[in-house]
Amino acid sequence: MHLLPSFVSLASVASLAVAYPSSLYPRSLASFQPEESIASQWKIHESCNGTQRAQISRGIEDMHKLATNSLNHILNYPKDEYFAKYFGANADPAPVIGYYAQLVYGNKGDSLLRCDDPDDNCRLPEWNGHWRGNNATSETVICELSYTSRLPLEKLCSGGFQLSVNNPSTYFGADLMHRAFHVPEFSHEKIHHYADSYVDVLELAKSEDGNGTRAVENQHSLQYFSLDVYSRKLTSWGCVGEVKEEDHDDHSGHDHSATSSAAAATTQTQAAQASASTPSAAAADCHTHADGSIHCGTH
Ligand SMILES: *[C@@H]1O[C@H](CO)[C@@H](O)[C@H](O)[C@H]1NC(C)=O
Ligand SMILES: *[C@@H]1O[C@H](CO)[C@@H](O)[C@H](O)[C@H]1NC(C)=O
Ligand SMILES: *[C@@H]1O[C@H](CO)[C@@H](O)[C@H](O)[C@H]1NC(C)=O
Repeated sequence: MHLLPSFVSLASVASLAVAYPSSLYPRSLASFQPEESIASQWKIHESCNGTQRAQISRGIEDMHKLATNSLNHILNYPKDEYFAKYFGANADPAPVIGYYAQLVYGNKGDSLLRCDDPDDNCRLPEWNGHWRGNNATSETVICELSYTSRLPLEKLCSGGFQLSVNNPSTYFGADLMHRAFHVPEFSHEKIHHYADSYVDVLELAKSEDGNGTRAVENQHSLQYFSLDVYSRKLTSWGCVGEVKEEDHDDHSGHDHSATSSAAAATTQTQAAQASASTPSAAAADCHTHADGSIHCGTH
C-alpha cells in the first residue's frame, strides 16, 4: 500500500518532466491494474485471399507450436543435452526463453504478412517470400511458391527429411520463425546469422567455451533447436540424420555473415542444392537484410 501514494505524488510533480529526455519520461499508465492484454497477433494483409490466409494462419500456428514446445522444454530441462548441443553447455537459458516467448506472446505492433508482391521479388525463381527490409521493416511478403513447397509440422521427419542435411524452412512454421526474427517488432534486431549450416551451428555452440554468447542469438540455432526437440515428441529419435563433418569444408569458403551474398550466384547454388536434396520442397529461402543485402539462408 505505501508504494501507491509515493508513485502518485511523484507523477504529479510536473517539473520532473523537464528532467527526463522524452523517451525516458515514464508513461502514465492508465490504471493500476496488472498488465493483461498484449497485441500478440501477426496480422495478415487484405491482399491475401481466403486460401492464402488459411495456409498462412496454419503456418503461424505451427510456428507457435514450435516456439511453445521449445519454451516449455527449456523451462522443464533448462540445460539438458539438446540445449547444450545447440546453444552451449555453459549458455544461459534465459535469453533463449525470451526469444521464443517474444515470438508467441510479444506485442507484434504493425507486423504484417502480405500476399501481393509490392517489391516484385516473387518472380525470382525459388523465392518463397521475403522481408521487405528498408521498404517496410514490419512487413513480410509470402510468395506463391510457399503454398506448394512448405510443409505442415505433422510431416516433420517424414519423406526422408533429415535435419542435418535438408532445409529447416521446408516446414512452414520454421520458415515463418525465421522470417519473424527479421522483423524488428519480434526480437528487436537481436537475432543474427552467425552460423547457418547444421555443422556450423553445432560448432558455434562449442565455441567461446560453450558460453553461448553468439549461439543464443543465432537464427539457425533457434530454428534447429525448435525442430529437433519437437521432432522428438513425434518420433522416438527425431531425424537429425548423419552429421557430415565434410559439410563444413564445403562451406568454409563461404562468408556466412549477414552481409554476404552475390545474390544471383547464391540463388543458383541454393536452387541446385534444393533440387538435389530429398524433399522436393527444400527450396531456396532468400530474404533481404536491413542494409539491403540479400541473404539466401538454406542449408
Ligand atoms: C487465392 O489466390 C491464389 C493465387 O494467388 C489462387 O491460386 C487461389 O485459387 C485463390 N483462392 C481463392 C479461394 O480464390
Ligand atoms: C524496395 O523497393 C525498391 C524499389 O521498388 C526495390 O528495387 C527493392 O528491391 C525493394 N527492396 C526489397 C527488400 O525488396
Ligand atoms: C564468451 O566467450 C567470448 C570469447 O571467449 C567472450 O568474448 C565473451 O565475453 C564470453 N561471454 C561471457 C558471458 O562470458
